Amino acid sequence: MPRIYLSAPDLAGGELAMLGEAVASNWIAPLGPHVDGFEAEMSARLGVPYALALSSGTAALHLALLVLGVGAGDRVWTSTLTFAATANAIAYVGATPVFLDSERASWNMDPGILVDELERAARANELPKAVIVVDLYGQCADLEPIAAACKRHGVWLVEDAAEALGATYRGKPAGSFGDLAVLSFNGNKIITTSGGGMLLGARKEWIDRARFLATQAREPVAHYEHREVGYNYRLSNLLAAVGRVQLADLERRVARRRAIREHYRTTLGERPGWTFMPEASFGSSTFWLTCVTVGSPARRDALIASLAAVDIEARPVWKPMHLQPVFAGARVFGGAVAADLFHTGLCLPSGSGLTGADLERVVAAVQATPA
Ligand SMILES: Cc1ncc(COP(=O)(O)O)c(C=O)c1O
Repeated sequence: MPRIYLSAPDLAGGELAMLGEAVASNWIAPLGPHVDGFEAEMSARLGVPYALALSSGTAALHLALLVLGVGAGDRVWTSTLTFAATANAIAYVGATPVFLDSERASWNMDPGILVDELERAARANELPKAVIVVDLYGQCADLEPIAAACKRHGVWLVEDAAEALGATYRGKPAGSFGDLAVLSFNGNKIITTSGGGMLLGARKEWIDRARFLATQAREPVAHYEHREVGYNYRLSNLLAAVGRVQLADLERRVARRRAIREHYRTTLGERPGWTFMPEASFGSSTFWLTCVTVGSPARRDALIASLAAVDIEARPVWKPMHLQPVFAGARVFGGAVAADLFHTGLCLPSGSGLTGADLERVVAAVQATPA
């Protein structure tokens, strides 16, 4: 039987035709009509005026911090429960990461902690230059109080919506919050270009500046003139062609991932100790990954092992950044909630390409594992 992956790429069907057309047109470059089209379609869908297609979500995070002027000596606060890319971008610009715990309602950054700690930091003259709030596993953080607190203190807000394209917060799309927002089209994401990302924002000068830095900081003159260090971060026109086809299929993908989570909930929801990652009242999640806490680390490890034995991939919830050796010594506000979610949390296969038979296989394998 074929291996069942956590979140395998899911073809919409038109990718090959669009790629063929792009190849035939000879636009095999990190610019071209599909890059422009992909940016325009994403910007229209999210209601954000400007978008920049990039080689990865990590590149988008890096450029977001550069554009906001974050550098050595600055502090950047972010969610501790995230993938390393969020925190790595802070390190790339030489800033100091500070980590914030999760709230139970959404598993995302606890807005109460943010509000209190920003007040305290303002009094101590220790405000961060920016906050990167992560929308985890397809669900938005509680963005309104987070954005309001940042605004009150003059702190830039970056929304890391890499995992949440298709989600909404109070009716507004993930990726449309913050001064800048970031998406990822990595192979495991809800839409994929194999690798890719996007930076979005309402200020033209920021997106123009990011485009310049992403194109080796090449001055707009015929000879090759450079006054700054730049990066090679643009998305290929071929990959943008794939992205456009995938984006047009987003609604189906969201509906499928939500249905997969519902299937797991109805078939496995009664297992002792199991609690599914909640859907917070303020938004609609894509359930990019179906996540569940299972009561103890031993149970979590036993489930991963028994699923692996029948060729099914399941993974622990992200290991929080404040527990990572690479960020040892970094400051953390709270941390116990994120640590608990990590120690007992599990992500189940959730790809929108999973069939009913695949889901039966996963459910049977879980049920065959002693509770
Ligand atoms: C929360 C988060 N931020 C950033 C990234 C980085 O995106 P990419 O893999 O496209 O660099 C990812 C995923 O890979 C992610 O899950």
